[in-house]
Parts: sequence; structure tokens; C-alpha cells
Amino acid sequence: MADKKQIKLGMFLRPAGHHLAAWRHPNAQADAGVNIARFVEVAKIAERGCFDMLFSADSATANSVFDENGLRRMAYVAWIEPFTLLAALASVTQHIGLVCTASTTFEEPFSLARKFASLDHVSHGRAGWNLVTSGNHTAALNFSRDEHMAKDQRYIRAREFAEVVMGLWDSWDDDAFERNRESGIFFDPKKMHTLNHVGDHFKVKGPLNVARSPQGRPVLVQAGASDDGKQLAAETAEVVFTATPTIEEGRAFYSDLKSRMAAFGRAPDELKIMPGFFVTVGDTQAEAHEKREFLQRLIHPEVGIALLSQRMGLDLSDFDVDGPLPEVPQDKVISSRVTLLVDMARRENMTIHQLYTQIAGGRGHYDICGTPEHIADVMQEWFETGAADGFNVMPPVFPDSLSDFVDKVVPELQRRGLYRTRYEGTTLRENLGLSRPASRYV
Ligand SMILES: Cc1cc2nc3c(=O)[nH]c(=O)nc-3n(C[C@H](O)[C@H](O)[C@H](O)COP(=O)(O)O)c2cc1C
Repeated sequence: MADKKQIKLGMFLRPAGHHLAAWRHPNAQADAGVNIARFVEVAKIAERGCFDMLFSADSATANSVFDENGLRRMAYVAWIEPFTLLAALASVTQHIGLVCTASTTFEEPFSLARKFASLDHVSHGRAGWNLVTSGNHTAALNFSRDEHMAKDQRYIRAREFAEVVMGLWDSWDDDAFERNRESGIFFDPKKMHTLNHVGDHFKVKGPLNVARSPQGRPVLVQAGASDDGKQLAAETAEVVFTATPTIEEGRAFYSDLKSRMAAFGRAPDELKIMPGFFVTVGDTQAEAHEKREFLQRLIHPEVGIALLSQRMGLDLSDFDVDGPLPEVPQDKVISSRVTLLVDMARRENMTIHQLYTQIAGGRGHYDICGTPEHIADVMQEWFETGAADGFNVMPPVFPDSLSDFVDKVVPELQRRGLYRTRYEGTTLRENLGLSRPASRYV
């Protein structure tokens, strides 16, 4: 089996679970967002399931929801800052990768490069950075701005940002630090490289004050599906997290993105595409559906509308929930995700209520509910017909839905030779089948 290409798996972290009403489930921990013991438990279950990585999304705002009635019912409103969380999880896990989202719109490249290189050291080579440009307007207000940067500008900044971070990660050769007690020489200055970057957005001298990290560079993940997003990913990303709600859209995204790579001298296999999969597992189809329905019944309309308004970037609280989605002005389309939701609502003639119920779990990601065999069949089809290299698994409720996946779906994938039975390597790169990049100076 060793030579056969296998499915890669990310475990998408979220406090009580991915379903909007997860925190109200009797088996969930309502305070999971600030409960480190629960995060540790979840990380260990994922590692037992040989997941490639834990993946954390992030946004730097609490009140991204328009109306207070909805906001007060929103469990995602406040939880531990993910970078700190992953650093803590590094010390209680041994194999699983630790991928965290950080925004090129709000961060500074030097401090970001420093943090991720440090996480790579702390975890002995398991760190990854999910580069996003952030679609959230209210986050801008927390960073001394009156409004969010325009999308094309965000991507221009992101490209330069990534270039600076990569440059800083090469500041030191692998063998720069002699630390020779006898001679008293700590490092070899010839093996230290000063970046001296001067660009349109950043002026960064360098070098980074962290030694080259175990993976050479932390794995570069990216999420962003517009044309600009795909161009940046084709050029720089090693993993792409995406939302493709049907296999056809999955295949179209996959072939589009992979075909852009040749222009940057990259082979398709240097980038792993991992769509989000919101997975509800049952021993029978009926049991899986009942689990799902149980959660759907826990959604209060106020929070359903709030979620949809947030996703659309448009306040929907004054519209009839049993009526259709209103027209979305073109200047309000903040991301590829809005287009995706509008298309889905129009295609399937959905009301506002139906649309929020639909996204309350998967939030526009592929939503699958069924037996382990059925789920494995679907994953196999996506994997073998060019729609995915792996999946970012989104369990509805922690820890139950993750345990279901690990105890039932993982063995089924292993039986089919589609998934590892033990970790192949010690670093995230090795497990993902990505090579360790050489420094630009060597
Ligand atoms: C699958 C996916 C996941 C994303 N996750 C985050 C996130 O965790 N935090 C964030 O600020 N933005 C996130 N974004 C937003 C992107 O960074 C980007 O700013 C936004 O979608 C607009 O770019 P796009 O139109 O290229 O997708 C995500 C986008 C996608 C498609």
C-alpha cells in the first residue's frame, strides 16, 4: 500500500462543533471555546484517527453579526485565540499537524513569520499557516481602519506579504548555529541572510530572530477561491482549503487550480486540495438523519438569520424568513462564498429559512450524512475522480461526531487502502507528501 496515493485529512477545529446549534447539544461542552481540556480531548481523538492536521479558522472580530438578537445566540462569538491554542496542543500531541489561520490584511509579516517559525520549533515540524485575506468588514474596525480594504488590494498586499514571510523563513541556513562552547562562537555570520525587503506595502530588513525551522518553512495553506485567490494559491500554496458544495464544483475547482500551477513551474502534486466536508455518521442512514435533524431543531430563527446575514455581508433581519433571498447588490459581494450561496438559493428556489438551515452545519461546504460505507464511497469518488486530494473534516458536534468518524469511517477508508494506518513521517510535510524546501541561499 505504501506507494499508493492516499487521502489526506484535516480536522477543522471549532469550539463545540461545526453545527450552529452544537453548543446546545446535551453531549457538547457549552463552554468549549474556553475549555482547554475539551480541545485537548478533541486533538487526541483526531490523532488517534491519524489525521494529517488540526486546522483552525480565525477572524479578528466578535460582532460580525448585524443584529443583537442573533448575536446573543451565537456561540462562535468568542473563543481562545487559535495560535495560542495550537501552541498548547503541540505539547500534548506527537504527530498531528497544527495549522492556524492568520490574515495578511491585518498582520505584519515579521511578527507572523516569527510566530509560525516558533510554532514549527515547538511542535518539532508540525506547523502550517493558513493564509487568508479576510472577508470580514468588522475586523477592519479593530485594526485602526474605518473600512475594509478592497479585495483586489487585499490580494496585492497578500502576495507581497507571503514573499516577505518566505524570505524571512530563509534568514538562517540550517547549520548556521554552531553554538560552540569552546570557541565561544554562537553562529556563523555567513549563514545569516538579511532580507532588506522594500516593496509597496512593506519595508522589512530582517533577518528573522528565529532559527530556520524543522520543516525549513511551515506548510503554506491558503483559503480563498476567487480568481485572485486561485492565482496566489497556484503560485505559493501547498494545501488549499476550499468550499465546494457539489462534486462537480469540486472537480471544476480542482482542475482549474491545478492547471494554473504549470505557469509557476510547479507540478500538480505540490499542492493538496482539501475541501471542507461536514460529516454526520450513523450506523444506518435513518440514524444519521435523525442525528442531523436533532441539531437542526435546536437552531433558533434569530441565530439562523444572523448566520446567513453574516455570511452574505447583508442584514436580512427585516426580510420574511419564508420568502426568497433578496437581490444582493454587486458592491456587497464580499467574497466567492456569497456568490456560492446566492447561486445555491436561486438554483433550488430556497427561502431564507431553508437557506440558513442548509448552511447551519456545513456553511456552504459539502454536507454529507449517512453510514460509514456511504461516506467512504463518496470520499473515494471525490478522491479518485479529481475533486480532492483530501478533506477538511467538519464534525457537527464535539467529541461525538469526531469519534464516530474516527471509529467508523477511518477503518472503512483503511480497509480500502485509501488512508494510512499509521503516520509515515514525523513532520506535517512528510505526512502530506510535501518536500522540504531548500533555502533560496543554499
Ligand atoms: C474555504 C475558505 C475558508 C476561509 N477561512 C477564513 C478564515 O478562517 N478567516 C478569514 O479571515 N477569512 C477566511 N476566508 C476568507 C478569505 O481569506 C478571503 O478573504 C475571502 O474569501 C475573499 O476572497 P475570495 O473571494 O478569494 O474567497 C476563507 C475563505 C474560504 C474560501
